[in-house]
Amino acid sequence: EVDSYIDDLLLQMTLSEKVGQMSQCSGVGGFLPNELVEDIQGGKVGSVINEVNLDVVNEMQRIAVEESRLGIPLLIGRDVIHGFKTIFPIPLGQAASWSPEVVKLGAKISAMESASVGVNWTFAPMIDISRDPRWGRVAESLGEDPYLCSELGKAMITGFQGDSLSAPGAIAACAKHFAGYGAAESGRDYNTVNLSEHELRNVYLPPFKAAAQAGVATFMSAFNELNGIPASGNEWLMKQVLREEWGYDGFVVSDWESIKQLTIHGFCEDEKMAAFEAINAGIDMEMVSRSYQQHLEALIDEGKLELAQIDIMVRRILTLKYELGLFDNPFTDPKTLPTLLNPSHLLAAKEAAIKSCVLLKNSENKLPLDKHQLQSIAVIGPLADDGYEQLGTWIFDGEAEHSTSCLAALKDYVGSEVEIKFAQGLETSRSEQQAGFDEAVNLAHESDLVLMFLGEESILSGEAHCRSNINLPGAQEQLIEAVAATGKSIVLVVMAGRPLTLTNVIDKVDAVLYAWHPGTMGGPAITELLFGIKAPSGKLPISFPRVVGQIPLYYSQKHTGKPATDESFVHMKDIPQRAQQTSLGMAATHLDTHFTPLFPFGFGLSYSECHYRDIEVSHTAIAMGGTVTITAQVSNVGKRECEEVVQLYVRDLVANVTRPVKELKGFQRISLMAGESQVVSFSLHTDDVAFYDRNMVLKAEPGLFDVWIGGDSDTRLRSQFSIKGDDM
Ligand code: IFM
Repeated sequence: EVDSYIDDLLLQMTLSEKVGQMSQCSGVGGFLPNELVEDIQGGKVGSVINEVNLDVVNEMQRIAVEESRLGIPLLIGRDVIHGFKTIFPIPLGQAASWSPEVVKLGAKISAMESASVGVNWTFAPMIDISRDPRWGRVAESLGEDPYLCSELGKAMITGFQGDSLSAPGAIAACAKHFAGYGAAESGRDYNTVNLSEHELRNVYLPPFKAAAQAGVATFMSAFNELNGIPASGNEWLMKQVLREEWGYDGFVVSDWESIKQLTIHGFCEDEKMAAFEAINAGIDMEMVSRSYQQHLEALIDEGKLELAQIDIMVRRILTLKYELGLFDNPFTDPKTLPTLLNPSHLLAAKEAAIKSCVLLKNSENKLPLDKHQLQSIAVIGPLADDGYEQLGTWIFDGEAEHSTSCLAALKDYVGSEVEIKFAQGLETSRSEQQAGFDEAVNLAHESDLVLMFLGEESILSGEAHCRSNINLPGAQEQLIEAVAATGKSIVLVVMAGRPLTLTNVIDKVDAVLYAWHPGTMGGPAITELLFGIKAPSGKLPISFPRVVGQIPLYYSQKHTGKPATDESFVHMKDIPQRAQQTSLGMAATHLDTHFTPLFPFGFGLSYSECHYRDIEVSHTAIAMGGTVTITAQVSNVGKRECEEVVQLYVRDLVANVTRPVKELKGFQRISLMAGESQVVSFSLHTDDVAFYDRNMVLKAEPGLFDVWIGGDSDTRLRSQFSIKGDDM
């Protein structure tokens, strides 16, 4: 039905109308400029980005369907990255929940809220593997691991798109940025990316392949160049990999002006060539710049492009409009959708924030706090009472006034039972000015306990917000030092858009709760965790380096020919003066820092403790195409109920190309009562250990595999199985 509808439409369309469908314009926010009205009337626009005023959106749709020649409705695009009005934790925070359910619900609510103002297309999930915390967009990512990123990316897509795109409240998703954007050299946004085809196919592309298979409606091409060819003009990526190998039939949109930027890259002489390269590479719609508008017709007239190519692209765009039900009804009636910021949305945002927080340290069980044991608390830090900064990057539509800050939530919870005194200490997270230190230190002296809310304000992460030093910014380390000198217990809550290097402060505080940017309901979520109404259960979706010089640092590194070991590790402070020897361990280490991260991927404490034992494999050897079941017993040996994310890792010991020392292949969130044990079981098919070999063929190889089950990537609970070859 859809095909014949679109065949019919394509037959009636002029070339200019086709090019119009391939062009996305920017709205101006809140009103409709004459040029845009004329463009819509003239069939020169297929989509508008960044207009979320319901009346304006409905009016644009009315003009499109009533005043343009063929009445084709518009795609209305908006970056709804981690919430519309109800803001959820930043995606990296959501990834720390290791919960597809949490991520899916967050996306569903974001879809419904944004759909209520007429948005029908969002530019999420961002599924760029991110192994460089200097990169500002790590905040928007789902972390360093291809498997976790794939699973959570699929959940986000399902949340946005639902079972049917035409259902009320469903919006089209966009897998971005295709591809390699997260590997920008030195973590500088938009920077050059050089990735071997192995690395690309085994690490960076799997989340995109998973998204394509999950039916994501659109893809976005990346800003960066990839091995010398800008992604937005990269035929290999978009034609060979995406279309031919993966059979993807949704449409590809460029990033903002990334087609025009092909000239700036030095890849195309002028915008006409840029339009040509982008079309040839397979970009169906141009975001904001006008190279398609200005040059496609001429390129066809000159015989450089085939009309048939254009028809295929326009068909993909019209198909999405059809699937969204826009040809039946392009208008939005907010009464058919849940209200913004309603209690169930806020509750979901709070639950997401609770599950996203990662407890990194808890000396002598300082947490949870008991309000009956405390008379006074000093709350210190620039992020304690800032409803805006807790929202994080990419919140076009979120508003501080809807946030509950930590200070407000704490006061609300303790009521008159505990005296809460507040000092910012620093004006902002970046301030160097220490004028507020005395007040903070005095409050600490007068109080039973200090709660510090430090980290990064929102502007320090996100697109083009990269840092070369990822310590706590400004004078925050000095503030911790000054407060620690009082001898009071300190619980540090960190809000940040990236992993920070906490080496300089970790020993000065008793407990650390890493809250990322937790969103609208950050205050109540953190309060419930601090006071033990809920227990922390988040696990790191990315390794935390000790120092910035360790980057890139990720758990699934290669073994190397001289792996770092505790025995071979030598710190330079331990080298005798005038050392005669030249050999210092001869291993893949730095001399001035340990080779391990400060906190490994998958790590996170709770208020209870889980022990793992008895790992078993169902078969010591399986045939190619077979499945092995791996089990282990997990016991809650602590005193209270807990949720634990149980993780399965695998290593292919010898292969045709070297394989990582460990790779995540499964995870499960389980609940255990105090004293309870559970046998957790994972199935692993031989396809699950397939990789692109030296001939770029995706296949599993016979041989021996290590398997581990544990609570983080550092788990040592190991077993083995093998895949039998023909000769075994
Ligand atoms: O979706 C974004 C993209 O991630 C970065 N450039 C702009 C796009 C639309 O706002």
